[in-house]
Amino acid sequence: AAAEKGGYGTFMEKEIHDQPKAVEDTLLGRTDASGRLVLDELRIDPEELKNISKIIVLACGTSAYAGMVAKYAIEHWVRVPVEVELSHEFRYRDPIIDDSTLIVSLSQSGETMDTLMAVRYAKEQGARTLAICNTNGSTIPRESDAVLYTHAGPEIAVASTKAFLAQITASYLLGLYMAQLRGKLFQGEIEDILADLHKIPGKIQEVLDGGEQIRKLAREMAQAPSVLFLGRHVGYPVAMEGALKLKEIAYIHAEGFAAGELKHGPIALIDQGQPVFVVVPSPHGRDSLHAKVVSNIQEVRARGAKTITVAEAGDADVVDYSEQVFYVPETQPLLMPLLTTVPLQIFACALAAEKGYDVDQPRNLAKSVTVE
Ligand code: G6P
Repeated sequence: AAAEKGGYGTFMEKEIHDQPKAVEDTLLGRTDASGRLVLDELRIDPEELKNISKIIVLACGTSAYAGMVAKYAIEHWVRVPVEVELSHEFRYRDPIIDDSTLIVSLSQSGETMDTLMAVRYAKEQGARTLAICNTNGSTIPRESDAVLYTHAGPEIAVASTKAFLAQITASYLLGLYMAQLRGKLFQGEIEDILADLHKIPGKIQEVLDGGEQIRKLAREMAQAPSVLFLGRHVGYPVAMEGALKLKEIAYIHAEGFAAGELKHGPIALIDQGQPVFVVVPSPHGRDSLHAKVVSNIQEVRARGAKTITVAEAGDADVVDYSEQVFYVPETQPLLMPLLTTVPLQIFACALAAEKGYDVDQPRNLAKSVTVE
């Protein structure tokens, strides 16, 4: 069993450390010699993809947060509206679907009943269905018109880690492919983004190499009754994923909020010593999001919060307002979730281990939920 865990104590730790390879393998072989994206494996007529007027991403749990990240990138690159919906909500609300709707399901297992039923329903309504899935030959890809596999390798720990990063990677490839087909980005822009994606595995490795700082904090914080996570733009779903990891394996009350929403309610929760993780946007983004989030950090800190920030290397603005800063290497703003998620996974995993919990098999949860 130790060998199966690659020398780590738990599958979750191993899978966190598998992430450079999971992203690399998901990118592998999907470009031709001239740098163009080739997704012939999709088995979907490129003409059909050109005519899609709306994308609906369907997923549950961690996979739904990957879908939320994908929405920011796909809408930005492809200029097609993207909705993200929990599979179990979608089916029961009379959604508007036609044959120009592309359903993109995200599922690690390919067996989640809620997602399978939602895909079936959408198909009956005439939608095109594309599965992004980590499990070869599983039910959801078999029942979909098209499939784009993530190549994260088998994920054993109940709490998803490497599948999440692979799902983001694959949905970015889909977005770039659609942008290429529809002429929405210049070929040079696509190549630049792909080149930056190819640098991600090495950068994840850097985050992993610095993991001890995070594990140390996790051990110190094992008694925290509640932890809040703030993020904005693509950092918002990352914040929710960070909170979900803590709930799932460390049984700590945790919530992820959009940083801009703080003043509309969540700030009332802040009092002395409340831990708040903040996923800070890139200071190189074209807009002022970075400054806005830095002022959110100041606001919660002024009310007594213990602020822990995940920021881009070199971001000096957060230092004065952070009890601790975890730096991740610089990349394009849209690619940051592939890096900023990692410290949050390490944190949850180390904290759960410190509390003596079974990290791989948390209570009440199943790896794949095959009932509605
Ligand atoms: C379960 C697992 C989660 C997972 C979710 C969706 O709840 O415990 O880790 O994110 O199912 O699973 P899927 O296989 O569809 O991605």
